Amino acid sequence: MAAESTQFASTEFTNPNLEVLFSEKEIQDRIKELGAHITSDYQGKDLVLVSVLKGSCVFLADLMRAIDLKLTIDFMSVSSYKNELKSTGDVEILKDLSNSIRGKDVLVVEDIIDTGLTLSRLLDILGSRGANSIKLASFLDKPEPRIKTELSIDYTGFVVPNKFVVGYGLDAAGRYRNLPFIAVVKDPSAA
Ligand code: IMP
Ligand code: MG
Repeated sequence: MAAESTQFASTEFTNPNLEVLFSEKEIQDRIKELGAHITSDYQGKDLVLVSVLKGSCVFLADLMRAIDLKLTIDFMSVSSYKNELKSTGDVEILKDLSNSIRGKDVLVVEDIIDTGLTLSRLLDILGSRGANSIKLASFLDKPEPRIKTELSIDYTGFVVPNKFVVGYGLDAAGRYRNLPFIAVVKDPSAA
């Protein structure tokens, strides 16, 4: 048991280019709070959680287990960053939803809102499909680089500074999604 936790703790420090911003414990505590809010807000609704792949898969997995309601999940995949560290503004649907959202109460589950370009395009697309309501849950909010300032996030995990972060589903060129915590990449060119 002791050996296990020592080994686990050391994973945070094996990469000198990562600085922990939110620990696994802080994240799990916050997810429980978000789950309780969503549970109370969606009483009697037909809730479907729409996860935007790949970044939000970890958040979705934890958040859905913190919501005490009958719900369904679905996935969408859009391209935005394409292995680079900056936003292009172009959004291409790589994978669409499997089921109709007509009449449903949709909660879009995202990993991070940065410029907001990806999400506002996605919300435009989903907005034309006859859902009863569409709201947004984002694990992280990085408000400084926001271009789509009108975008409102209904459920936010944490607000982050204008730095490139990884872990808990978020990647740098496809890596680090598996980290159970959020870290700042000190030197993005060496990520
Ligand atoms: P936006 O279109 O600029 O809001 O970018 C949204 C997407 O960019 C997110 O869903 C992430 O995939 C990616 N992204 C933005 N900031 C970061 C970051 O700090 N780390 C990892 N991915 C990020
Ligand atoms: Mg994403």
